[in-house]
Amino acid sequence: MTSPLLKQITSSAKELERIFFENAPFVHISDTAAFLEHLSLDIDHLLQNHNGEIYLHEIDELEKYFSRSCNSSIEAKNAYLLGTPIALKGIQESLIFARVLQEEIGQIYQVSADLFECVLFAEVQDIGLPFHWDVGEVIVIQLKGSKLWSIAPNKIAYPTKPFAPSSSQLPLPELNLYTTPESFCVPVDEVEQFVLTPGSLLYLPRGYWHKTLSVDASISLTIASIVPPLVDFFSDRIREHLIRLEKWRQPAYPATLSRLLNPE
Ligand SMILES: [Fe+2]
Repeated sequence: MTSPLLKQITSSAKELERIFFENAPFVHISDTAAFLEHLSLDIDHLLQNHNGEIYLHEIDELEKYFSRSCNSSIEAKNAYLLGTPIALKGIQESLIFARVLQEEIGQIYQVSADLFECVLFAEVQDIGLPFHWDVGEVIVIQLKGSKLWSIAPNKIAYPTKPFAPSSSQLPLPELNLYTTPESFCVPVDEVEQFVLTPGSLLYLPRGYWHKTLSVDASISLTIASIVPPLVDFFSDRIREHLIRLEKWRQPAYPATLSRLLNPE
C-alpha cells in the first residue's frame, strides 16, 4: 500500500490498514502538522479560489437544522462570521492537498477517486453540527484550529439513508423498513469524545453517529465515500438491463405482470 501523504498523518502502515479495512472508528491526534504549513488556510483566500458549491448549515425558527446552497462567497463569509457553519464542496479543485488525499484514498479502496467527495468545513468558535449519521465512510483531517468530535456506534448496521434527529427533514420512509423507533436515538452511554488538532485524522465507519463543536475558529477537510450500498448498486444494474427490453417498460398492472410471468 503506497500512501505517502496519509502515512505522514497516521504515522504507520498498520494504522492505515485498520482505518480502511476493519470498519472500526479510528482517531489519530496530532500535535504537529508540518505538512500543513504550506497550505493557505485563510478563509477569504479559500472562498475566493473556490469554484464549487457552498452550503450553509442553518437553524430555522423551530430550532431545526437544515442546509441550503449559497452561490455568493460574500454571503457565505457573512454567514460564517455570524456563526453559520459553511461547507465548500469540491474543494479538491482548488486545494491540491485535498486532491492528493482523494486520489490516495481511491487507490486504497480500488475505486475511482471521484467516489470520494471532498468538502471543506469552516466554523467560528463554539459552532458545530448536531448529532447525525451519514451513509458512507467519513475521513476527517483537521487543518486549522481545534474541533471537538462526539461519536457513537449506530444500532443499525450500514444505514442506506442519512439521518439527523434535529433536522427539519423527517427520517426517510426507507429507514422504517429495517429500523425501530429506538434506532433514531443517540446511544448516549456509548458516546466517545476527541479533540482534533491540526494534522489529526478521524475515520468514521458507515453510519456512525457524530456531532461537532469548534473549540476555536476551525477549518477541516472531510473526504466522504459516496460508494453506494450493494443493494443500490445491484438494483441499478438490474434496471439498466431490464429497461432495454420492451416488455419490462410496460405498466405494472397485475394483468400485465401475469402475462409476463405466464406467457402462453
Ligand atoms: Fe456528517
